[in-house]
Amino acid sequence: MDRRKFAQLLTCGGASLPMFQVAAAEQNSAKEQTEKKSPQQAKPLPSEPVNVSDVRLLAEAKLPKATYDYISTGSADEITLRENIAAFQRMKVLPPLLTGVSEPDLSTTVLGQKISLPIMLAPVAAQRMYHREGALAAARAAESAGTLFGVSSSASNSVEEIAQVSKGPKWYQLYVPKDRTVAKKLVQRVERAGYQAIIVTVDLGEWKDADRRNRFMLPKEMLVKHLQDTGFQQVSNKMSYEDVIAFNAQAWDVSLSWDFFKWLRSITDLPVLLKGVLRKDDAEKAVSMGLDGIIVSNHGGRRLDGMPASIDMLPEIAETVGDRAEIYMDGGIRRGTDVLKALALGAKAVLIGRPYAWGLGADGEAGVRKVIELLRAELLNAMIAGGCSKVSDVNRSLLLSESR
Ligand code: FNR
Repeated sequence: MDRRKFAQLLTCGGASLPMFQVAAAEQNSAKEQTEKKSPQQAKPLPSEPVNVSDVRLLAEAKLPKATYDYISTGSADEITLRENIAAFQRMKVLPPLLTGVSEPDLSTTVLGQKISLPIMLAPVAAQRMYHREGALAAARAAESAGTLFGVSSSASNSVEEIAQVSKGPKWYQLYVPKDRTVAKKLVQRVERAGYQAIIVTVDLGEWKDADRRNRFMLPKEMLVKHLQDTGFQQVSNKMSYEDVIAFNAQAWDVSLSWDFFKWLRSITDLPVLLKGVLRKDDAEKAVSMGLDGIIVSNHGGRRLDGMPASIDMLPEIAETVGDRAEIYMDGGIRRGTDVLKALALGAKAVLIGRPYAWGLGADGEAGVRKVIELLRAELLNAMIAGGCSKVSDVNRSLLLSESR
């Protein structure tokens, strides 16, 4: 398939990509997105969430169906989405007894920045659809929890708006405008606003049946703001929705190659991370090009379906990279024990996507904070049980070998 066709496909896929749904039945979707579920469909709700699954239920009850589905579903048959969770569940922890650990220190550093726990917020698009304060609420929650916010370039607030409400550490996730002048200015704004690194997400191929079925789409005003926030000043609310969509569809570079990093390095001194790595040869290439970090990720099962769980690919990538770059992972983290397993297999820290998007949908800033605190408490318990007094104590000996 040629690249233009591929780009068109992506455009139709809705997405965490900057290209949101080009829906034919525009008039239906706005209605569907605001419809509430009927009482028969309602499930009993937890009065106070005790885990991430409870928060998910609260978000499901509160959000319009199409929005909840946009967050929660994965591509095609959701094999990868399920596998991200199942792979963690298959992995067994075998902690030692009587280690005398009672108060582990969960803090760690990521690219030299201290954070209070090895759990960060992954870049997540369209956050103003989940709560009116959107990414501003998530940014405040990350700061007050002492962790890092990975800011999606489609988050629905500008680089500066987010920096204004939060002094906490932030990495900016870049989707790359085709117009390199716009791209360069955007990177310069990211630097000026005090972000500590740039994440380049390159894993394309989102194909979510639920979003097509629901005709999920970003409201025009949000899409216009997103394009203006990026630096496309020629886009305005005076344009028709069709024109905005057409502009959006051609605005982004979806055919990047490794050379892009040479260009990026030539315009910024910020550390650069590559997100979406699953193969060790890609990890090797990234490191040999001097990238500072790698995020092992399959985009939370939202990319090409049938890819393996991120956690299953982590060990060989960690082995390939060694200490030449920092390694993070995301995909399927729902429990503190999942974090422990990822650290044991070589991740410096993990990122969460859906868990905090559900928190945001359920209760704004407080909901995001709740999710982080639930996972913090679970990780603390796992570290005590595992006899780890600090994050760097977590190692493979805590896991039952794969053959058992
Ligand atoms: C994402 N993800 C994502 N990634 C990215 O680099 N840029 C983006 O704009 C988005 N947008 C986005 C929207 C939504 C609703 C979700 C759920 C995810 C992927 C995200 O950063 C991360 O890789 C996964 O979410 C991790 O998997 P879990 O934690 O959701 O299982």
